[in-house]
Amino acid sequence: MDRSCGMGLPVLLLVLALSCPAGALENGLARTPPMGWLHWERFLCQVDCDEEPSRCISEQLFMQMADIMVSDGWRDVGYQYLCIDDCWMAPTRDKQGRLQPDPNRFPSGIRKLADYVHSKGLKLGIYADVGNKTCAGFPGSRDYYDLDADTFAGWGVDLLKFDGCNFGTLELLAEGYKNMSHALNKTGRDIVFSCEWPLYERPFRKPNYTEIKQYCNYWRNYADVYDAWGSVKNILDWTSYNQDSIVDAAGPGGWNDPDMLVIGNFGLSWDQQVTQLALWAIMAAPLLMSNDLRQISPQAKALLQNKEVIAINQDPLGKQGYRITKENHFELWERPLSGGAFAIAVLNRQEIGGPQAFVFSTAYLGSGLACNPACSIQQILPTSEDLGLHNWVSPLKVVVNPTGTVLLKTVVTEEKLFDNGKKRFPEFL
Ligand code: GAL
Repeated sequence: MDRSCGMGLPVLLLVLALSCPAGALENGLARTPPMGWLHWERFLCQVDCDEEPSRCISEQLFMQMADIMVSDGWRDVGYQYLCIDDCWMAPTRDKQGRLQPDPNRFPSGIRKLADYVHSKGLKLGIYADVGNKTCAGFPGSRDYYDLDADTFAGWGVDLLKFDGCNFGTLELLAEGYKNMSHALNKTGRDIVFSCEWPLYERPFRKPNYTEIKQYCNYWRNYADVYDAWGSVKNILDWTSYNQDSIVDAAGPGGWNDPDMLVIGNFGLSWDQQVTQLALWAIMAAPLLMSNDLRQISPQAKALLQNKEVIAINQDPLGKQGYRITKENHFELWERPLSGGAFAIAVLNRQEIGGPQAFVFSTAYLGSGLACNPACSIQQILPTSEDLGLHNWVSPLKVVVNPTGTVLLKTVVTEEKLFDNGKKRFPEFL
């Protein structure tokens, strides 16, 4: 790669910052994939607080979630952003043209809610739309990008999910995302910018990720996640099918967003929940849960709070993983991690029968480097287990439940291959 943009050194020094396209939106945010909670998949657009007082989109819902994110240990393992999705607004702007929350459901206002969330050591996310109306029909930000960015900054908002419904033309779509990104930067407040630009663009033309990542901290590519295995499967299939064009776009400051984690809800079996978390870690995805933290099973909670999985997701190298191979009904995925380590996921896509063994050579992994000459292998999901030392040619066998995933981590080891004169790898040496 020509890192000098084709210029001589003196000129280069003078104009480097101006002439080289930025690699990513350098607002200093989202150096690792953002983690938190987002209301949409679980709570949708329930605006009737008389009928559904504990499930409607209201300040009470977010204050309760904030309390639990602290008391139940979510914040301390990294889930930091508490995010409002669509349907928080009043149906019209105020007399000054400012967005305003629904007065019955957010009587204290967003500023107060942000103060409350901040007092808990959390950050507040909010939602708006690039077009004339949000997807649920509330006021859109078209023609109001600067004013809305100022309003959000004034309220103390820390993240904006910017949807793309009713975007108009492709030119307006792109301009809208760029203008809002600039408007947020101009406020001087640190506001993570979450986009759906490529999702809305793709039906008409191929998204330009080099451009998108200069404006967005993360971006949705594919349809909304549902609380269903079919939905998780579609997202994984779409991602592996398109990996050559999306994986390299991801890195510190900008991430592909396969949408919310639906773990702890109704639609996924235990193994499917393991699969969702394992693969979202491999994909370096934002970990935004959409569930009811007030009533979540201890098993789902332990899974979502698994520190080893979170460490993989948050790995500072910031490289997104990819599928290496698909053999019969098994898929083998890997993600390069810092220090030469690799995360490995073995997914069993068979939906009939019982647990099945998958045997593969560690030489497959990391283009032959992950376990060369030897590595220690830790199983992380579904249970934590030390699988010991392996060498480059020793076969590795994992047993995986239907629709489940075994998540592993390999760490290259310089450990002696001989122990007290005894061969450690007799089949190899
Ligand atoms: C969709 C978006 C969802 C949710 C919804 C709100 O377009 O992809 O994640 O935000 O709008 O109406």
